[in-house]
Amino acid sequence: MAELITKEQMAYQRSFIMKLKEENARYAMKNGHVRLALTETYGCQQNENDTERIRGMLREAGFEFTDDSYKADVVIYNTCAVRENAEQKVFGRLGILKHIKEERPNMLIGVCGCMVQQEHITKKIKSVHEHVDLVFGTHALYKMPELLYKAINEKKTVVDIESSDGAIAEDIPIMRDDAKKAWVSVMYGCNNFCSYCIVPYVRGCERSRTPEAVLNEVKALVEDGCSEIALLGQNVNSYGKDLDIEIDFSDLMRMVNDVPGVERIRFMTSHPKDLSDKLILTMAECDKVCKQLHLPFQAGSDKILNQMNRKYTKEEYLAKIEKVKKAIPGISLSTDVIVGFPTEKNEDFEETLDVLRKVEFDNIFSFIYSRREGTPAAKLDFVLTDEEIHTNFNKLLEVQNEISKRKNEAYIGRVEKVLVDGVSKNDKETLSGRCDSSKIVNFKGDKSLIGKYINVKITEAHTWSLNGEIAE
Ligand code: SAH
Ligand code: SF4
Ligand code: F3S
Repeated sequence: MAELITKEQMAYQRSFIMKLKEENARYAMKNGHVRLALTETYGCQQNENDTERIRGMLREAGFEFTDDSYKADVVIYNTCAVRENAEQKVFGRLGILKHIKEERPNMLIGVCGCMVQQEHITKKIKSVHEHVDLVFGTHALYKMPELLYKAINEKKTVVDIESSDGAIAEDIPIMRDDAKKAWVSVMYGCNNFCSYCIVPYVRGCERSRTPEAVLNEVKALVEDGCSEIALLGQNVNSYGKDLDIEIDFSDLMRMVNDVPGVERIRFMTSHPKDLSDKLILTMAECDKVCKQLHLPFQAGSDKILNQMNRKYTKEEYLAKIEKVKKAIPGISLSTDVIVGFPTEKNEDFEETLDVLRKVEFDNIFSFIYSRREGTPAAKLDFVLTDEEIHTNFNKLLEVQNEISKRKNEAYIGRVEKVLVDGVSKNDKETLSGRCDSSKIVNFKGDKSLIGKYINVKITEAHTWSLNGEIAE
């Protein structure tokens, strides 16, 4: 069972939040304005959830927030290591901050998260980006108050990227932007070691939170008016394996389903090898669990799947999907796909297209393989050229876009319950929200409907979204 960071340690961190708060109050008295913080997130939902905790700690320490790097006193980038372009973006941003810091030398720059949990990256930051004042990895998140206090007051670069594999920190303050929807991490880390993936190295081994901790968080969220809960983990189906009580993810799902006030439950991510019949049945039986499943298959060729260390075959994957479709008719399916894994040939890629055509996902998240230092796949040689890989990638999108559009067209005429998120990005007169299957639905309506569940009749379908009108 995962160790908890002790109450004493958490209280120690809280003492630094109080010290920062006093400093911030003194600063505001002297300067007539409070110190401002800026946070940016580059990674997945887990990282977003971590950023919510970073903002929670900053808020309790008396900081207010800005989106403007030219106004921020503290900048924290929460980084992702999963693909090279995510890392490049951060280095690019750090380059820009260097110039801003030349004009505003008191600005504090912090980099945290998955990327800096890798030693070679931290070395590069120390040597190339000397203007960075604070570096902390995923395991040191709960220590941010102490580290930030030291970075501000000791005027030297503070680094904490030690791996404290196995520990979980509960009760870190949190600041969520959405009042109605919340992510709740049920477990951390990953033990799967897919050969291309850096996540197990930067997030550590699987650790489950206790059901009490998860349920207490869910109940507190509901009391605050939240009604949609997304249960998070790199592989939620492993939930509970490391706990010393008999419990699995299906059991936890049922417990969350029983919490009064919860209206919708989503979860991600499931690994196909661990998607059990029990979970499929539980999804079908729990009325609040959305009819939606994200089940990454990554590649269609058995040879590639084997080299990826995914531990299932194409046929096994397709058989699981059939079971899911049968148990939960009309379920919306999504997946992750990697194109251009080193040993992938065109004939392997055809198998990936075949899976798309057979399953007919509602949407997919597709990625071009990115070499990650330290992973087993990094040693493999490529068969296809970059150009061939890009051609395949475009082909993948072409095949999927047609399927996505067709799947969306089937919604025309249906009435869908939509949780309204806000006004649409493109048109301020239009509201935007998500239906049960998580598709984006845009419709005309008054702003007062934001945060409410509204029945919307679907009138039009696009590749990425649906349009509709409020149903009578
Ligand atoms: N634990 C989740 C998500 C992991 S990261 C899962 O297993 O599904 C999200 C996605 O990024 C993965 O599903 C995979 O498709 C992609 N990914 C991971 N490593 C990658 C790499 N080296 N290059 C390209 N895509 C990668
Ligand atoms: Fe990475 Fe595989 Fe773990 Fe997902 S299951 S985080 S792809 S190692
Ligand atoms: Fe997520 Fe990226 Fe880390 S995908 S777990 S933020 S490496």
